[in-house]
Amino acid sequence: MADTLAINGGQKIRETAFPPWPALDDRDVDAVSAVLRSGGLTQLTAGTVAEFENEFASWHGAKHAIATSSGTTAIHIALAALDIGTGDEVIVPAHTFIASATPVLHQNATPVFADVDEHTFCISPESVEERVTSRTKAIIAVHLNGHPAHLKALQEIAEPRGIALIEDAAQAHGALYRDHKVGTVGAAGCFSFWEDKIMTTGGEGGCVITEDDALAQRMRRVRHHGEGPIEGERAYYHLELGYNYRMTSMQAATGLVQLRQLDDYLEARRRNAAYLTERLGDIAGIDPPFVDEFTVHSYYKYICRLRPEAGIDIADFVRAVAAEGIPISRRYPTPLSEQPVFRDVEAAPCPTADHLANELFTLLVHPTITNSDLDDVVQAIKKVVSALRKLGSE
Ligand SMILES: Cc1ncc(COP(=O)(O)O)c(C=O)c1O
Repeated sequence: MADTLAINGGQKIRETAFPPWPALDDRDVDAVSAVLRSGGLTQLTAGTVAEFENEFASWHGAKHAIATSSGTTAIHIALAALDIGTGDEVIVPAHTFIASATPVLHQNATPVFADVDEHTFCISPESVEERVTSRTKAIIAVHLNGHPAHLKALQEIAEPRGIALIEDAAQAHGALYRDHKVGTVGAAGCFSFWEDKIMTTGGEGGCVITEDDALAQRMRRVRHHGEGPIEGERAYYHLELGYNYRMTSMQAATGLVQLRQLDDYLEARRRNAAYLTERLGDIAGIDPPFVDEFTVHSYYKYICRLRPEAGIDIADFVRAVAAEGIPISRRYPTPLSEQPVFRDVEAAPCPTADHLANELFTLLVHPTITNSDLDDVVQAIKKVVSALRKLGSE
C-alpha cells in the first residue's frame, strides 16, 4: 500500500541514492596532478597555498587569509594569536558543532555556553550579555547552518569592553550580514573546507581571514611552529609555541578550482532551499528555515523544526523518513553543555538549545540536487507526518 511507511514494510518513496557532494571533476584532478608532478607539495616549497590565500582573501575583500589544515585549527590559531589562555573565558553557543568550542580547551581557557536564538539557531546576544564577566576575552559567533549570527548586537557587546569577536563561518561561506560577507566583520573569520562543506579543499582544510596585520602575522607564526618570519634562509628560530597546521599544495590546488565555482554553488543552494521552503511551508507542525532580515543564508544545511505541537517524536520521524530513502538526520541532538568532553565546565541553563536538540532535523540542498530529488523529500515528509500523526491520535 502506497501510504504504508517503508519502516513498516511499505514501498519506499525513493530507491536510488541522492546525488553526491562535493562535485569534483577533471579540473580538480588535473590541478592536483600538476602539483604532484611539480614536486612543490607544501606551503614551504611552492606558491600554491599562497595563491589560494590571495584568491580567498580577495573573494571576501579581506586583507589577509591564512590557510590551515582544518576549520578546527583555523579557530585554534585565532584564539592562540589573540593570546587567549588560562583563566580567560570565551563565550560560545551551546548549540553548534563541537569544534566551535574545543579549541578554547586546547588553549586551556574556559568555554562559557550561551543560549541560542529560537529562530536562527545562532548565539543569542541577550544570553551573551548575561554571560559576560571581567574574564571574558572573546565571543565566538557561529553562523550556524549558513545563517549569519546577529553580528551588530554582538559587536555592541564586544567592542566597548575590548572583547574579541571571532566569527566561526565554517558552515557559512558567502552568507551575508547587512551586505557584508560573513567572516569580514569580526577580528577574525574562520572557515572550514571539510569534504561536505559549501566548498572543499580536497577533503580537509581551513582558513582565517582578517584585516589586522599583526594578528595575521601572529596566526601565520602559530600555524608554523611559532617560527620567526622566513626571509631567505630559514633560521629555525622559534619565538613561541606553535603547531604544524599548514595546508598542503594539493589541498590548495583543488581549493582554487572549487573557489572559482563558489558563486554558482551558492546560487544553486539558495535555489534548492527556496524550492523546498515553498513546498514544506504548508505542512502543519514543520517549520522550514527562518531567514532574518538583513541576512542572506548560504544553506550549508537545510534545517527544519518539527514542532512539539505535531505530537511526533523526532527520533521516530527521522528514522521513518530515512527508511523512505531520503537522506535526513537529527541536528545536534546533544547540546555542548551536555557533552562529556565539557564535564568540568560549569554551565548555566540554555533552555532554547535544550529543546531545539529534540526538534531539529537536517535535509540536504547541495548544488547537485535537482527539483525531482526535492520532490521525493517533500513526498516522504508528507507521508511520514500524516502516518505518525494518525498514530498519535489513535
Ligand atoms: C561550526 C563549525 N565549526 C568548526 C568546524 C571545524 O571544521 P573542521 O571539520 O574543518 O575542522 C566545523 C566543521 O564541521 C563546523 O561545522
